[in-house]
Amino acid sequence: MRSVRDLKGTGHWALVRVDFNVPLTDDGHVADALRIEEFLPTLRALIDQGARTILMSHLGRPKGKDPALSLRPVAEYLSQRLGRPVRFAPDCIGPETQAASAALDEGEVLLLENLRFHPEEEANDPDFARALSSLGDVFVEDAFGTVHRAHASTVGVPKVLPAYAGFLVEREVAELSKLTQNPKRPYAAVIGGAKIRDKLPLLKNLLRKVDALLLGGALGASVITDSEDPSSSLFGAVRELTEQAQRSTGRLILPEDFILQDGALGPARVSEGTRIPAGSRAMDIGPRTCERFRAELASARTVFANGPLGKAEEEPFAQGTREVLGHLGLPGQTSILAGGDTAGIIRSMGLASAFTYISTGGGAALEFIEGRELPGLAVIPSE
Ligand code: 3PG
Repeated sequence: MRSVRDLKGTGHWALVRVDFNVPLTDDGHVADALRIEEFLPTLRALIDQGARTILMSHLGRPKGKDPALSLRPVAEYLSQRLGRPVRFAPDCIGPETQAASAALDEGEVLLLENLRFHPEEEANDPDFARALSSLGDVFVEDAFGTVHRAHASTVGVPKVLPAYAGFLVEREVAELSKLTQNPKRPYAAVIGGAKIRDKLPLLKNLLRKVDALLLGGALGASVITDSEDPSSSLFGAVRELTEQAQRSTGRLILPEDFILQDGALGPARVSEGTRIPAGSRAMDIGPRTCERFRAELASARTVFANGPLGKAEEEPFAQGTREVLGHLGLPGQTSILAGGDTAGIIRSMGLASAFTYISTGGGAALEFIEGRELPGLAVIPSE
């Protein structure tokens, strides 16, 4: 991919797609800044070469203009972080935004309001893409978390402006390629989170690529008990995976025990085997499973992790995640964490150092790992 380091000349108007889709606190401050922090090398390089930098991003999935999803708090965070003012445009297109961009001096930074306040963004409307493009003379793609979306700002703008990959996009591609191009074996994936059903296509695909797939997560009620209601979507998901595993080289390793909770407030207790009595819910993997998972991962040379292994935001159910993921990053082991809210949870648990790389991508990282073509990357020319 053509890189921002190939950008010739100074004083460009660089229109940069970033993924500042970050969690905000109830009082409207940035709650986890990983995606902003990881973009700073590109921003600093642009500032150093005298570019006028116009940043554009989405935040959340607004239906029309939603003040709770304004990017203004991100402009404040960035100003503080850079120790210099970051201007904010209350709309991403229109004459005032145009004027704000035109007025930038070399080295100045302007952040545009949430792109998704305009439905034309997600519709990949060509006129909207042209309106955005009129703000810059080059386009830099550094929103790795959004490269799986074919939206106006990710694929429409690079049809109009010459496109370059930012450093974060380059780094993500290099790191995640360690999982797709001849990963060191044994290669294990440890997958948790609450949305196992949603991840089913990924999991089936992974079973064809990994040597072992370890499945945990806040699995809810009855998962693999024989009293199972076959219509339950989770049960169906596990059954489909078991069938896929029989046709794949990858072994599927399911929990052997759980930490249960009776009702919403009951104390945590260890299950007997995989039986989940009526009225109880599996909230974490149990101690035998922790041991099994740790032993399996200790021999892996590549580990891909996605999602906490239990309802880790509640301390009694955080043990499985801490015990298993906290021991990754052994000498010679590549351990990569990716996926949605996962990074925030793992970072807040203090487990970041167990990973050789933490991706800023959610769905984008998962689609990359599956080997799908990502539209936002496909549009960046190779030279
Ligand atoms: C993400 O958080 O995965 C990206 O910012 C993309 O957001 P989206 O799923 O709403 O398109």
